[in-house]
Amino acid sequence: MQIISFTPVLMNLIEKIRKPIEKEIEQFEKSSTEELKTENPLLKNISNYLQLGKGKQLRPILVLLSAKLCGEVTESTIYGAISLELIHTASLIHDDVVDNTFQRRGLPSINAQWNNKVAILAGDHILSKSLSCGIKSQNTRILEAIANVGMNLTDGELLQLDKVQHAQLTEDDYFEIIHKKTALLFSSCALIGGLSVKADKDSLMHLFHFGEYAGICFQMKDDLFDYSENNKIGKPTRNDIKDGKITLPLIYALKNADESQKHEIEKWIENKDFSDFHIEEIVKFVRENGGLEYTFQKMEEYKNKAIEELNSFADNELKQSMIFFADFMSNRDF
Ligand code: FPP
Ligand code: MG
Repeated sequence: MQIISFTPVLMNLIEKIRKPIEKEIEQFEKSSTEELKTENPLLKNISNYLQLGKGKQLRPILVLLSAKLCGEVTESTIYGAISLELIHTASLIHDDVVDNTFQRRGLPSINAQWNNKVAILAGDHILSKSLSCGIKSQNTRILEAIANVGMNLTDGELLQLDKVQHAQLTEDDYFEIIHKKTALLFSSCALIGGLSVKADKDSLMHLFHFGEYAGICFQMKDDLFDYSENNKIGKPTRNDIKDGKITLPLIYALKNADESQKHEIEKWIENKDFSDFHIEEIVKFVRENGGLEYTFQKMEEYKNKAIEELNSFADNELKQSMIFFADFMSNRDF
């Protein structure tokens, strides 16, 4: 039972992205299922439940594409991909507890389906499994990159907790947070793909930046979703605002609105005064002050920067898939 409905055009784009790595995705899925086998009945249930809403697997796809762009996919690539997908899964399970969210990928989140205690412990277990797969990659640079992802995810989340509930949050603060909480995971996927096939230093650098810029697009798109009326994304909209989380559309609108209009919104944010009426007023304020257009324009800029990082690679179907990948990150509607 896959709950999220995919629009045909975008589904087609995903199929195009996956095409040159179909065989490797199968290998990844087989090894992944093997790694998640457990005798613990609760973990088994959670693992089966996670399979129902397993998402688009963009991160392992990026690992596999980057590896194959530079060589032949190895066991080390597969374990790197499993490790990254698992650290991502663990972070989302914990994130829904931190954000007090009850829906993920069109299903009740783990904290909603079970409870917070189960979600924290299951997330811990999956995180440990991720590290174990990192070790199985038998490459200390890969393991180092995975540990670095874990540190940055938590660093970014703590920064967010500390800073984003204040109307004075700047665009620089926003970029620092999204680099840590989202972009580094994508840049590490591309880097680890390259490391797993011993790509040269120059290629590793370009892969890293490709993932970084594509990751920034992904987060901006996610932040735009919060302002949309789209019910296809499989998680509630307006959640960031309700939580007092200020993202680029609102940062821009606050910077550019006139003082009187801005003052009232800032007061609601500082007092965490988020009634349904105030939330819809904030959405209107962001729309009227160009916050959505600005974020969209920035996202396009980063997509183009990501694609430019591929200039030094030979033109082939792998590179074409990476270009589709960057396109998907900013055009997805789920
Ligand atoms: C989604 O962001 C969440 C993240 C990008 C990272 C969350 C990280 C943690 C909670 C730290 C835990 C880390 C480990 C290694 C277990 P979002 O809340 O903006 O997006 P959403 O709408 O998808 O929830
Ligand atoms: Mg969240």
